[in-house]
Amino acid sequence: MAAMHTLIDANFRRTDTASARHLWSCDDATFLAAARPHNDWPRQYFGPAYAALADRFAGDPAARTRRDIDTILRIAADHLAPRPRILDIPCGSGRHATALAAQGFDVIGLDRQPDYLRAARAAGAATCAAAEMRALPIATGRIDLVLNMWNSLGYFVEAADEAATLAEFRRVLRPGGMVLVQQDLDAPAALEGRWVQHMKAPLGDGALLLVRQVPDAALGGLACLSWVVLPDQAPWQGPAFFLRLRDDAAWAREAAAAGFAKVSIARTPAGVVPHETIVLLHA
Ligand SMILES: C[S@@+](CC[C@H](N)C(=O)[O-])C[C@H]1O[C@@H](n2cnc3c(N)ncnc32)[C@H](O)[C@@H]1O
Repeated sequence: MAAMHTLIDANFRRTDTASARHLWSCDDATFLAAARPHNDWPRQYFGPAYAALADRFAGDPAARTRRDIDTILRIAADHLAPRPRILDIPCGSGRHATALAAQGFDVIGLDRQPDYLRAARAAGAATCAAAEMRALPIATGRIDLVLNMWNSLGYFVEAADEAATLAEFRRVLRPGGMVLVQQDLDAPAALEGRWVQHMKAPLGDGALLLVRQVPDAALGGLACLSWVVLPDQAPWQGPAFFLRLRDDAAWAREAAAAGFAKVSIARTPAGVVPHETIVLLHA
């Protein structure tokens, strides 16, 4: 049982079954009122429990990382000179930065979460440091490839913060460089209401993760609430999650405003699971 406590942290709150059931099944407007994120929700969300949940919930993490690295190397070989200088932002616990550094790449990993950075440093190889993605501590024009992996762009509710982030990514790129944004959700499908809203995932040892996702047209993104149910306990409700949803037109508009010359987008065909979207923003 001790290990299960890693799946909740101080940002979770104990709730009761009736309240959790209500938020699970209520109409979308009621849900969105309860799931409204503030602009800085990631500070609460990305804690120790998120790291433990991500390891248990999202398939085999090592296999996923290996697949990602293959994708990154293929795209880099197609578009960039050999041995590109890479910025992984946000790097989390450094799974991509570490693997790329182990292959001899010059990689900097940045994230805002000190616990994840400690794990990244312990994993070795890459240079990892604390930073906020709206203001990167990197000299202008120094990077060939900015990596933004696993649904890590679109967290800000305020459009100005999103614009500042894209402008920072553009600023640090060399001429000919690019940003690779990877997501495992189909944003146009979510915007049109064709996206899974309820997920139940076993976490092992009798624990269950419940996630409800609802597109919020007013905020232009996906609002999510999750619950962890441990054996013989009332549900624990996690902090709200928010991800801005961009269709092709939004990518084109926002990338141009940030000074990118070209956008290319590749999406897994509709209905194929797991979904992956790769967006390349070319300087
Ligand atoms: C979904 S995780 C992805 C991490 C990593 N890219 C991966 O694939 O494992 C999102 C990360 O974004 C970081 N983050 C959230 N908001 C941030 C911000 N404003 N500046 C820097 N990092 C941020 C969190 O700390 C968390 O590590």
